[in-house]
Amino acid sequence: MRALPPSVVYDPARRLWLLTTPASRYLLREDPDGSPRHVAWGSHEATEAVAAAEAVAAPTIASSFDGDGAADELGIETGARFGPAGLQIRFADGTRGAQWAGAGHGIDGGHLVIRLRDRRYPLRAELHYRVRPDTDVIERWTVLANDGQEPITVGRADSAAWSVPLLTDYRMSHLVGGWNHEFQLRRSQVPVAETGFTSRRGLTSHHANPWLAIDDGTAEEDRGSVWSTALAWSGSWRITLHRDPADRLTWTGGLGHEGLSWTLGPGQTFDTPVFAGLHTGDGFGGASRAWHDYLRRHVIPTPQEDRPVVYNSWEATGFTVDEAGQLRLAEAAARLGVELFVLDDGWFGGRRDDTAGLGDWRPYPGAFPRGLGPLVQKVHQLGMRFGLWVEPEMVNADSDLYREHPDWVVHTPNRDPTELRHQLMLDYGREDVARWAHRWLDQLVREHGIDFLKWDANRAVTDAGRPGHPDPDRLWIDHTRAVYRIMDQLRADHPRLRIEACAGGGGRADAGILARTDQVWTSDNTDPVDRLAIQHGFGMFFPPEVMAAWVTDSPNIATGRSTPLRFRFHVSMAGAFGLGGKLTEWTPEELAEAAELIAVYKRIRRVVQHGVLYRPATDGCTAAVHYASADGDEHVIIAWRVETGFGQRRPVARLTALDPAAEYHDVDRDARLSGAVARTGLALDLPAGDYASTLVHLRRV
Ligand code: DGJ
Repeated sequence: MRALPPSVVYDPARRLWLLTTPASRYLLREDPDGSPRHVAWGSHEATEAVAAAEAVAAPTIASSFDGDGAADELGIETGARFGPAGLQIRFADGTRGAQWAGAGHGIDGGHLVIRLRDRRYPLRAELHYRVRPDTDVIERWTVLANDGQEPITVGRADSAAWSVPLLTDYRMSHLVGGWNHEFQLRRSQVPVAETGFTSRRGLTSHHANPWLAIDDGTAEEDRGSVWSTALAWSGSWRITLHRDPADRLTWTGGLGHEGLSWTLGPGQTFDTPVFAGLHTGDGFGGASRAWHDYLRRHVIPTPQEDRPVVYNSWEATGFTVDEAGQLRLAEAAARLGVELFVLDDGWFGGRRDDTAGLGDWRPYPGAFPRGLGPLVQKVHQLGMRFGLWVEPEMVNADSDLYREHPDWVVHTPNRDPTELRHQLMLDYGREDVARWAHRWLDQLVREHGIDFLKWDANRAVTDAGRPGHPDPDRLWIDHTRAVYRIMDQLRADHPRLRIEACAGGGGRADAGILARTDQVWTSDNTDPVDRLAIQHGFGMFFPPEVMAAWVTDSPNIATGRSTPLRFRFHVSMAGAFGLGGKLTEWTPEELAEAAELIAVYKRIRRVVQHGVLYRPATDGCTAAVHYASADGDEHVIIAWRVETGFGQRRPVARLTALDPAAEYHDVDRDARLSGAVARTGLALDLPAGDYASTLVHLRRV
């Protein structure tokens, strides 16, 4: 890697901007018609020739049915452009699309702003780029401004369009799934077509995540060029990948799904969320390490903090919570070494099941006749922090809140409302509703000394409307922004408060929500076997310390599968560890093993939660993760083999992140290990049988 200072440089002769990160470069130019066009993105070496050339070769037009094929930095609808447009607008007189004239640019350190104005209409746009000295991630976003007297209708306002160089082929890696099976990694060839990735659910969604990686089909875990992007937005979104018949690949992405339109009023400006991208030559592993590092340095609010060992009551008690029962669980949890006790759903209003009570955020007197105070106090006395489940955006029709404010919910007049999990969604785009939510949350945290909120959202948005509102589709944007604002305000006013992002598990996980939360409830599925795939996909983008992972009872409530305690622990120890079982029914042997493994987790957690994640190659039957401390002195390897079979190869993991010249001390086995040998294959002492697992903790000698 050439040590070029990360920077933005403008070359006026070629009207070319050069953005340089530690290991990559991004080039774009201003077209004679004023449009910013993509030139190159890749390693320093790969972009060297373009950067050094006297002139940037202008693409040519193939026929009267084509444009020149140059990729726009933000696709527009005018001229000979036929790909998906990231900016789709209509002026009051019916004219569609923007036609740009350059209006200068600004460079402030690593921040480039390219200013554009429409040639005939009072519309301005700014394309923003930010590069930093400590990451290869380039952040991009767009700002639109209506300087006129008339409204502009916006169908799409994407954050950015990304393009990769011509490759021999294109493969996409993305994350799909559903409730209880989020973050399933899929890899397939990119078809010559427009491929849409989207959420129309008003949440990031369990079904698709706005993270994507592109390679030429040959990249591997530790080698090969990978381009990856991620949208920092927690509502509906769309990313459209376009491989055209000339074999060029671009993708445009931003908030909102297709079919929505909203107004940019006179004098208004609109900022899109960040759509970040990176190039690495170090394969899929290099890409996820670069994302983890970027999120830690620039997004997550508390990256240096150790995530506490959590106990959460949900799988143990469901909605049947009361002071005495929770106290028993809290005492059992404290004895095991738990540091944060979280009271889940069921503590408020008339909430005895999921049909009633959402919206009435005062303790249910039948369960907590003395309020929450005594339980919070006792949990604190037991030496744990106290966390509480809330679902602030939702309401049951059977609630005092709904009876009082039926107009507060998202709904369309003359359309039947859809209840999902018996609940409706509040319209936080209304100032009064958002203010109400902030007020009770603030009061709850303040009055009870609450240390942690698990902020849940258990339904998708449907029938979205705002009776009487002139711009009903703004709801899709304003709601998410209000959630961000409330979380930001709570954090600012309660600096010790930590928040977990949850939407029926991992339905709202993205870089937008991560900027104001400390961890994500990865999935409601706590079956350790299913979790291996979920955690593998999650780790493509998200670092381990935000991956909340509980050990629950066996058989598992989602799958009915029985697994050994040790296997369940080893799966959860790969992230932000927690417990969620009926501890009061565990045997003394199980409790003793649990306490011992929690002590091990505390010993290794700094490496797991703050280290660098590798996914070592194994014998093929075993899955493994390897965390290396930033200084390379400490290593944790966790390996799992789900099924055993006669004649399987000897389980090994190739630990290429170890120093070949170093010797390591295997802490739990009190043995010495050579880095050179372990790089070629560490023999894993997996016990016989299915659901085998092991953990290795190494310290450089
Ligand atoms: C969905 C969450 O993901 C669960 O962990 C639990 O909090 C339930 N909601 C409670 O209703």
